[in-house]
Amino acid sequence: MDSILVKGGGELRGKIPIAGAKNACLTLMPATLLSDEPLTLTNVPRLSDIATMTQLLQSLGAEVSSLQDGQVIVMSSRDAENPVADYEIVRKMRASNLVLGPLLARHGKAVVSMPGGCAIGARPMDLHIHGLEAMGATIELKDGYLHAEVPGGLRGADITLRFASVGATENLMMAATLAKGTTVISNAAREPEIIDLAKCLSAMGAQIDGAGSPSITIQGVDRLTGATHPVLPDRIELGTYMLAPVIAGGEVELLGGRIELVAAFCEKLDEAGISVTETTDGLKVSRRNGRVSAVNVRTEVFPGFPTDLQAQMMALLCTAEGTSVLEETIFENRFMHAPELMRMGAQIDVQGGTATVTGVDRLKGAPVMATDLRASVSLILAGLAAEGETVVSRVYHLDRGYEQVVRKFNGIGAQIERIKS
Ligand code: EPZ
Repeated sequence: MDSILVKGGGELRGKIPIAGAKNACLTLMPATLLSDEPLTLTNVPRLSDIATMTQLLQSLGAEVSSLQDGQVIVMSSRDAENPVADYEIVRKMRASNLVLGPLLARHGKAVVSMPGGCAIGARPMDLHIHGLEAMGATIELKDGYLHAEVPGGLRGADITLRFASVGATENLMMAATLAKGTTVISNAAREPEIIDLAKCLSAMGAQIDGAGSPSITIQGVDRLTGATHPVLPDRIELGTYMLAPVIAGGEVELLGGRIELVAAFCEKLDEAGISVTETTDGLKVSRRNGRVSAVNVRTEVFPGFPTDLQAQMMALLCTAEGTSVLEETIFENRFMHAPELMRMGAQIDVQGGTATVTGVDRLKGAPVMATDLRASVSLILAGLAAEGETVVSRVYHLDRGYEQVVRKFNGIGAQIERIKS
């Protein structure tokens, strides 16, 4: 397993291009199953999760071809007859569960392996299941697989989500596009990726209103056409790289970054004494002066502070002036980066879903271990300003969600390298 060597060092300056959003692409790709015509996605990020979703769709009988060095994918599901999503693929990536709604809409049946838990939590699917049952499906768990069927086809329904689940909203939206009648999803997730999916489905002929609001209405249609859709910029990659010049000093411009994608995050950065300015090409970020001030953070569903930026923010607050309290309200076990940061000298007290961080002057480089995708990059961020060298092991987590991470960090003056093992 490869590792990444980070040499703590000086200020960072330069520009970083922001790639297409992993979490948008992972829901846009299964939408191909809803049409017999080609669906083309542009601005696609080059990530191992995209490769996994490609493998899954091909196993279902879809044709997926990658062009322009992976930045364009063309998918055709005309011959996709297999409704079974195999455990061997699904266990690698929870987002595989996003084929459930489209398979049910296309075939009237689906057999999708339960993803199993992951490092950050149990990741149940009850909200997906209850919503699809409301649309007429019968779903049974057997041998670790969800066996779903709806012989007469899905019917529109009024569905209220107990929790504004991103994945459940996406699965139900896609299923509802071909259902008979109207579906209303209340307490729907409002993330930008939901709006991007609605844009793509509408370009395919779906009738969707209210994406981005807590109530989404989908009027079922008989069929969907193909489309070409650009994947929106990755707000989590954006937020991650925004923190690099804040942790290490300097000034960096994030090309393609848009304030509205990271509004709550920018509010917290402003409170901590960080300057974020909009430029014609994106966002420019630097410390306003001297040290960063401690702030309190509570993760929430969009438009609140994103859980996917909690680990990165914790890395910053380890050397902020004062004591910060971080509350993780979305996942039950998303502080695994804390003990690794403590190996670097951070002072963190974790009690259940709350972590209290007391800022220290400087972290010290150390060997640390990546435990999940966002934790892995928070350790690199911590290493950028630490004294000495940090070696982050198990970086296969990183490859899932950050394209060309070594090149992008070194492009702004960082000194990191990948060590093959
Ligand atoms: C999406 O996961 C993202 N993944 C996650 O990003 C992100 O952290 C999460 O949304 C929250 O924003 C993709 O888009 C591929 P949820 P998802 O359903 O859809 C509970 C990353 O790092 N829940 O909104 O799985 C669940 O246990 C990844 O890029 C149920 O209880 O998130 C969790 O506590 C990590 N029952 C909470 O809701 C359900 O049926 C949020 O889950 C579904 C979810």
